[in-house]
Amino acid sequence: MKKLSILLGSLMLTIGVVSCEQPKTENNEVNTEKTVSTDAPAESAGNPADVKTDGGTFQMPGLKYGYADLEKSIDAKTMEVHYSKHFLGYANKLNEAIKGTPNESKSIEEIMKTLDLKNGALRNNGGGYYNHTMYFATMSPNGGGQPTGALADAINKDFGSFDELKNKLADAGAKQFGSGWAWLVVGKDGKLAVGSTANQDNPLMPGQSISGTPIFGIDVWEHAYYLRYQNKRPDYITAFFDVVDWNVVGENFAKATAK
Ligand SMILES: [Fe+2]
Repeated sequence: MKKLSILLGSLMLTIGVVSCEQPKTENNEVNTEKTVSTDAPAESAGNPADVKTDGGTFQMPGLKYGYADLEKSIDAKTMEVHYSKHFLGYANKLNEAIKGTPNESKSIEEIMKTLDLKNGALRNNGGGYYNHTMYFATMSPNGGGQPTGALADAINKDFGSFDELKNKLADAGAKQFGSGWAWLVVGKDGKLAVGSTANQDNPLMPGQSISGTPIFGIDVWEHAYYLRYQNKRPDYITAFFDVVDWNVVGENFAKATAK
């Protein structure tokens, strides 16, 4: 009997130790080290070309790839919902917000620059439209690698190296509290800078902690990564770099510095 008690005691102790050793995240949530499997064939995601607004000044820009084409970094379902639900919602609500106002005839950039921050509908949906237009345009199944040409030169000059730029962007995205964006901008002084904004704000809007012409933005809202990465936003940001189309970012840089 005594032996049985000792055996049971040892067993309980072992279970307790194993339980206590479960890894935890910074937020004290149990980290199971597992992510949702994405090995299953992509669900059939519709066609991005079928996604249309209800009409108005601003339309959906379309995608140069299918929802499932960025699987190495972002699963098809996330891409589909992000583009056909979230982005479309911003576009429709932006069109509603500007209907019958002088903003109907302005470009989205002008609307952002002249924004009254107290206009919540225009701030959230105009920002959502501008930000997502840039986000989806700067991704590609053939992305990754490194910038070239004038953009590469500017990155080396202003950050020291491309790796340092990536570190700064990853840091800005990881540290943005709650939903928001990490940005690479060309400042008024012509230099590149990195920062972040909350919600759907962006560096074109007045009153932001980073100001300038955005040439690249990372969406760090949970809707951009949660299905595969759950709470691991830094892992999403790391994987996101594998689908960045630096040629498009380079074109954005050329436009921003040609002014
Ligand atoms: Fe988003």
